[in-house]
Amino acid sequence: MMLRKKDLLGLKDLTKEEIEDILDNTAAMKEAFVSGETLDSLKGKCVATLFYENSTRTKNSFETAARFLGARTLSISVATSSVQKGESLIDTGRTLDALMTDIIVIRHSMAGTPALLAKNVRSSVINGGDGMNEHPTQSLLDLFTMREKFGTIKGLKVVMVGDIKHSRVARSNLWALGKLGAETTVVAPQTLLPKGVEELGCEVSYDLESAVAGANVVMGLRIQLERQKAGLFPSISEYGDEFGITRDKLVACPDALIMHPGPVNRGIEITSEITDGANSVINEQVTNGVAVRMAVMDMLMSDAV
Ligand code: CP
Repeated sequence: MMLRKKDLLGLKDLTKEEIEDILDNTAAMKEAFVSGETLDSLKGKCVATLFYENSTRTKNSFETAARFLGARTLSISVATSSVQKGESLIDTGRTLDALMTDIIVIRHSMAGTPALLAKNVRSSVINGGDGMNEHPTQSLLDLFTMREKFGTIKGLKVVMVGDIKHSRVARSNLWALGKLGAETTVVAPQTLLPKGVEELGCEVSYDLESAVAGANVVMGLRIQLERQKAGLFPSISEYGDEFGITRDKLVACPDALIMHPGPVNRGIEITSEITDGANSVINEQVTNGVAVRMAVMDMLMSDAV
């Protein structure tokens, strides 16, 4: 399978068919990954991870996926790299090109940074999360997890609760779930909702307990604790009381799949009981993340342009 693109910068730019092709390829990759079968579609290639923000899941998942496909990996530690001496993003990218990198996975706090890098390097660029813009591979693994459980995304009722405004995961998911025919509802205090969010095709609610009625999926999003300092919600405990995912608030959707991209603030946006409960697929999401990243890199390199 091929992805007729040099880079993966966001899901806004992909068609429904391209997203479905990635999910189909992910299914094959997952079989190989969980059975421990290494593949060689990236043999001779080099994958660099360039993370200007912290990460546990995304960075390690890309590196695991790259090695499973037979690639060399380069992990650039921004804290100890020449970025600290003032080297620009583009010069860092061109240095990676000169080190014969084929794929650069980048995470940056500024929206649009992966697109800027992509225009200036030979390597394929994959967005590992840019500011408040997109986190495409997180959304793809979310979609894959839903499709694996329900067989289809079309017609699913998906509720996302939390800091929608600052969430690149929410944005990528809203683009993709809309294309694939899911019904989406976002739940948050007014201050954590971006203006015009309805234009992304979702319903808006300020009441989690009623919004989840009949939901197939309830997805918690990380409360970015640093936002609380900006006065966007009164206190952590009041946020948890109103918008935290608890057993009491899920009465109207007892069978809903519980998802969260991680890292989880236990006891704030979701209780430990729900995080570790029978309906939670939070750890499966992490495993699926490796498979989806294998699929994306395999497809980008099948059609290197
Ligand atoms: N979900 C996610 O992006 O996690 P990390 O920040 O650990 O990569």
